[in-house]
Amino acid sequence: MIRHTHLYYSLKDVQIRKMCHYSNHKIVCCCLLMLTQWDAITEMDEQNRPIHTFQVCHVMEPNQNNWLRSGWIQRQAAQRVYVELRFTLRDCNSIPWVSGTCKETFNLFYLQTDDPLPAATRFRPIDYAKVDTIAADESFTQTDLGDRVLRLNTEVREVGPVTQKGFYLAFQDVGACIALVSVKVFYKRCPSTLRNLAAFPETVPHMDSSSLVEVRGACVENAEERDTPKLYCGADGDWLVPLGRCICSIGHEEMDGHCRACKAGFFKANAGNVKCSKCPLRSSSHDQAATICHCDKGFYRAIKDPPTMACTRPPSAPRNLVSLINDTALFLQWTPPANTGGRNDITYNILCQRCDGGDSGETQCEPCEPDLHFIPRPLGITGTSVAVLDFAMHANYTFHVEAVNGVSELGVAARSLANITVNTHQAGVLGPAFLGIVKKDWATYNSIALSWSEVQQPHSDIVDYEVKYYEKEQEQLSYSSTRTKFPSVVVTGLRPSTVYVFHVRGRTPAGYTAYSPNFEFTTAAEDPDVADQGQVLVVVTASVGGFSLLVILTLFLLITGRCQGYIKARMKSEEKRTRFHSGHVPFSGIKTYVDPDTYEDPTQAVEEFAKEIDPSCICIDRVIGAGEFGEVCSGRLRIPGRKDIAVAIKTLKGGYMDQQRRTFLREASIIGQFSNSNIIRLEGVVTRSRPVMIVVEYMENGGLDTFLRTRDGQFTVLQLVGMLHGIAVGMTYLSDMGYVHRDLAARNILVDENLVCKVSDFGMSRVLEDDSEAAYTATGGKIPIRWTAPEAIAYGKFSSASDAWSYGIVMWEVMSYGERPYWEMSNQDVILSIEEGYRLPAPIGCPVILHQLMLHCWQKEYSQRPHFNDVLSFLDKLIINPSSMLALVNDAISFPDSPEDMPDYPLFISIGDWLDSIKMSQYKSNFLAAGYTTLDSISTMSIDDVKRIGVCLIGHQRRIISSIQSLRLQLHHIQQSGFQV
Ligand code: ADE
Repeated sequence: MIRHTHLYYSLKDVQIRKMCHYSNHKIVCCCLLMLTQWDAITEMDEQNRPIHTFQVCHVMEPNQNNWLRSGWIQRQAAQRVYVELRFTLRDCNSIPWVSGTCKETFNLFYLQTDDPLPAATRFRPIDYAKVDTIAADESFTQTDLGDRVLRLNTEVREVGPVTQKGFYLAFQDVGACIALVSVKVFYKRCPSTLRNLAAFPETVPHMDSSSLVEVRGACVENAEERDTPKLYCGADGDWLVPLGRCICSIGHEEMDGHCRACKAGFFKANAGNVKCSKCPLRSSSHDQAATICHCDKGFYRAIKDPPTMACTRPPSAPRNLVSLINDTALFLQWTPPANTGGRNDITYNILCQRCDGGDSGETQCEPCEPDLHFIPRPLGITGTSVAVLDFAMHANYTFHVEAVNGVSELGVAARSLANITVNTHQAGVLGPAFLGIVKKDWATYNSIALSWSEVQQPHSDIVDYEVKYYEKEQEQLSYSSTRTKFPSVVVTGLRPSTVYVFHVRGRTPAGYTAYSPNFEFTTAAEDPDVADQGQVLVVVTASVGGFSLLVILTLFLLITGRCQGYIKARMKSEEKRTRFHSGHVPFSGIKTYVDPDTYEDPTQAVEEFAKEIDPSCICIDRVIGAGEFGEVCSGRLRIPGRKDIAVAIKTLKGGYMDQQRRTFLREASIIGQFSNSNIIRLEGVVTRSRPVMIVVEYMENGGLDTFLRTRDGQFTVLQLVGMLHGIAVGMTYLSDMGYVHRDLAARNILVDENLVCKVSDFGMSRVLEDDSEAAYTATGGKIPIRWTAPEAIAYGKFSSASDAWSYGIVMWEVMSYGERPYWEMSNQDVILSIEEGYRLPAPIGCPVILHQLMLHCWQKEYSQRPHFNDVLSFLDKLIINPSSMLALVNDAISFPDSPEDMPDYPLFISIGDWLDSIKMSQYKSNFLAAGYTTLDSISTMSIDDVKRIGVCLIGHQRRIISSIQSLRLQLHHIQQSGFQV
């Protein structure tokens, strides 16, 4: 108290100088400093620029208590406040005669208030809360008395939490030699930013450093939303997990994070982040932000033409129109127009006029008779010829052939016509007219009998008759014909209740007569009995036809060589079937694992095994870790109609390569195949929008290794065995499925709120890139050495037996509360020690029976390691009968009980050898000095004994005691079997 009182008097409330500094991207407050026995001193730096400092250096006098206080600093929007101090601090050793009084630290304090304190308020150190003691780092103040070279220290401390409107900072010197050069007060914030064409405002992170602030972005001008754009502001002022995006509207393109209008001469017809396109040929845009380019005069765009297509125009007229007449038909032929108008959808129409000399001698034209027939058709002809049938004798026909394309209707230009006039009499090939009447004599459901009167020619002139017929409804799409020597015919093979059109003509030695007019007759209605037969017939024909079609198709494919693809496709589906039947659910009824790498397209595996989740159902709360591919977040999955689920979300950060995306999603296609209470459950994936995500159930207690490390000694053995039991359940399931994990370790086990342990981290089972423990082996593979069985390290033999080895290591990790296996030994030493027969000793407090199980898992010969179901039933028994965990030896499963069968564990000859083997050589003299000279003598040592002989570090005490316990076990074995050490 007295010292504080003294301070009141000694505090010089003098305002000295503004010490303002702005950090590069985070707002900084300025503060004014006031001082007592600190002095404001201006020094010169190397460039002779003044440096304003506050200094204190009362190193000769004891009991120093000198305070320097800032002015009131407004908190502004800050939730977490940081102070950066730059100072020099003089090394006490460099000042003679100051030992005892000279200090090398000072203290930082703060006081928060809603308003500045009244000017007359006395400074009371007791009101201030301590932030930290500040010491210099390596760049310790070196005062070279000759040159006065000063080394600056920079220290940053978080102050608070500050919840009131402002605060003061205070510096307490207790006898050091300090020069305070700058005080920078700042808070972190995520700066306003543009991401994915959305603007995000400056955002202050949450007070709670692990929580994220979700911020919705607003699309920049001329952009529109595609999935709500969101970012998350992290505690360090970094933006994380970009979700959703905006895209540039029509007429605008992305440039430097904005949507800029397309320049004149360019256009963009669709929203999206593609560039504006140059106007296509024969079009232009005169204004900015064009969504389409307008066609030049005389050029057009058809309705179905894409905006990117050049404008076109109607074609010119067909060329070289000629006619040919044979005994039955007139053929018109032409060549395509010289100018197609720039399109390739040209067709032709035939327009026909019949022109006869009228009574007045004038030529009169009228449209051709409707029963004139054109083959293939009169309009929309895609070829360059047409056959005309059934025209009258002695007539003049004028044919116009019109070329049209997709924009002909839009063009106002003259029609693209070519004409030709044909006189059918001059052609002289058409025979006499057919003047007879065609009658229907009878009809059944599928036949019609016709007859007609003779033509005018004497009968002997008629060689035969041709009867042409077609279904009226089909409009001559196809017609049939039949011949008869007599003026009657029965036409068969017709459809019931159908109208047919018939016409008949005669053939004479001079050629054909003209066709009779059209006659329409209808078949009878269907006879049900006969119809059934017909249907049966149809069915039989169809199936036989189907088969032959298949044969023909196969032959065709073989001949044309396309068969390869076909067979491959067949094989693929066959393969899939096989994979599914013999792979997924074999006869045993146990599902087996399907390696996603066996899929030609790995995305197919993802589709098969993982549900696609709509990203709008995912709410991200916070970042809980960082994976190789991107942040790992926690959040909730909100599927409508389902209870919300807490989930962990692994994200794939932007800018990934296709291969990375595949590797990332590989994990989902593996986890998606599993369904077991001790395997992490996959909720689904987001693959159709960015970022790509894998969503799994959330495990409240995170990784087992860290979980145990932070709760050292807090669980009962039974609880620990419960965890191991859960892991064994998961591993039994995996090995039954035929899945080899390859990276089983406590860090890859997740723990939920009820201490249920679940096996996780499947993505890297092939490539262990993501595991920081994985090291390269001589063969180039990356392997977590300490957890991996020797045969897997040596020659890559991974199996459920190598997983069993790793399980033994996990047991050891669990029983030692997250201790690192083999401590600080190098990977190389671990490999050599294992090779020499060395095994991890039982952790402190670990029942021997569990250590025996570990040793069993670590058998060199992998076939002798327990299967996971053995491990499981063994642990089941332990849990049912916990007293078994008090027993020392020999009641463990098939543990060798003769020395010949004993695994080759080392028997240390001397204390020195033993300490060397556990890397504790530095304590050799402690043991010897305390009289421990034989292995027998140490076997009874307790932890207190170890402490007493001078082993102070807890880690070393543990290592020594663990090893002693293991040694005790070995001695016990040997003694039991009659051996003497
Ligand atoms: N870290 C990685 N995955 C996790 C999960 N599913 N739950 C909690 N933390 C995790």
